[in-house]
Amino acid sequence: MALYKKALVVGATSGIGEALAVKLAETGTHVIAVGRREDRLQALVGKAPQGTISIMILDITELSSIATFAQVVLAAHPDLDAVILNSGVQRAFDFGKPETVDLATLELELKTNYTAYVYLVTAFLPHLQTLSKTNKAYLVFISATLGLVPTLVRTPNYNASKAALHSFITTMRQQQIDAGFEQLRVVEVFPPAVQTELHDTVHQPDLVGGDALGMPLAAFTSELFTKLSADPKLFVAIGAQAEALVAEGGLEDQRQKLFEAQQVHVKAAISKFLKKD
Ligand SMILES: NC(=O)c1ccc[n+]([C@@H]2O[C@H](COP(=O)([O-])OP(=O)(O)OC[C@H]3O[C@@H](n4cnc5c(N)ncnc54)[C@H](OP(=O)(O)O)[C@@H]3O)[C@@H](O)[C@H]2O)c1
Repeated sequence: MALYKKALVVGATSGIGEALAVKLAETGTHVIAVGRREDRLQALVGKAPQGTISIMILDITELSSIATFAQVVLAAHPDLDAVILNSGVQRAFDFGKPETVDLATLELELKTNYTAYVYLVTAFLPHLQTLSKTNKAYLVFISATLGLVPTLVRTPNYNASKAALHSFITTMRQQQIDAGFEQLRVVEVFPPAVQTELHDTVHQPDLVGGDALGMPLAAFTSELFTKLSADPKLFVAIGAQAEALVAEGGLEDQRQKLFEAQQVHVKAAISKFLKKD
C-alpha cells in the first residue's frame, strides 16, 4: 500500500533520499525529488516506474528562494501530503587546531543541516496544517543520533546542527499539537551509520573508503519503509544505538517525558507574563 499520496523528498540525488524516493515510487507514492545535481535527478526518474517521479532542482542554502520554491511545488502538486527533509552534509573540524577551522564551510554546514530546514518547514507548514484538518499530513525529518549524543568527535558542527534540529522539531511538534493540528505527523528518523556518499572521499577528503561505513543502504531503506508504514507519532529508530536511545527508559525517552511534563508547567508559568491582545 502507498505510504503517502504525494511526497516531496529533499536531498534525493544520492544515499538515503534517493533510495527512499525509489522505494516510495515503487509502492504507489508519487515523488517530487529535489536536489542540486540535475544529472542525478534525471537518472533517478529512470530508476522508478514511469511517471512516478517528478524532479525539481533546488539548493536549499539559497534561503531566499525557498518560499517561491514551495509556492511552485504546491501550485503543481496541491495534493502533496508528505514533506521529507533529508538533505545534509557532514564536515570534519578540529578545534584542537583552531587555525585549521574554515568558518565559511562551517556556516554552510549549519545552514544546510539546520537553517534551511527551518525555512522549508515554514514554507510548507501552512499547506500541511490545512490538509491535516481533513486528512493525515506528514513532516518527516532524517535526523541523526549524533544530535542526541555527539559521539563522533571529528564532526562537532554536524553534531551541533543535528542537536539544533532535534530541539527545533521537539518544540515545533508541540506547537502543532497546541494549535490543534493533531493529524499532522511530525516524525524524526534516527538512522545508524549508513553506506552513502555522506562520508565518501569526495565529501570528506580525509576519509578513505568512508562510503563503506555502516549499514548497507538497501537494508536500511527497507527497514525505514517498514517502520514508516507503522505510522509512528514521534520517532523511527534504526540500529541498536538509536533503538536504545528511544526505548522505554532510554536517554531520548526520558528527555521526551521530561519535555512533555515540564513544558506544561513552563507554559503556565510564562502565561501571566504574556501580553494580552
Ligand atoms: N549516512 C549516514 O551514516 C547517516 C547517518 C545519520 C543521519 N544521516 C542523515 O541522512 C541524510 C541523508 O544523508 P546521506 O547519508 O544519504 O548522504 P548523501 O548520500 O551525501 O546525500 C545527501 C543528499 O543531500 C543533498 N544536499 C546536500 N546539500 C544540499 C543543498 N545545499 N541543497 C539541496 N540538497 C542538498 C544532496 O543532493 P545534491 O548534492 O545533489 O544537492 C544529496 O541528495 C542527511 O541529513 C544525513 O545527515 C546519514
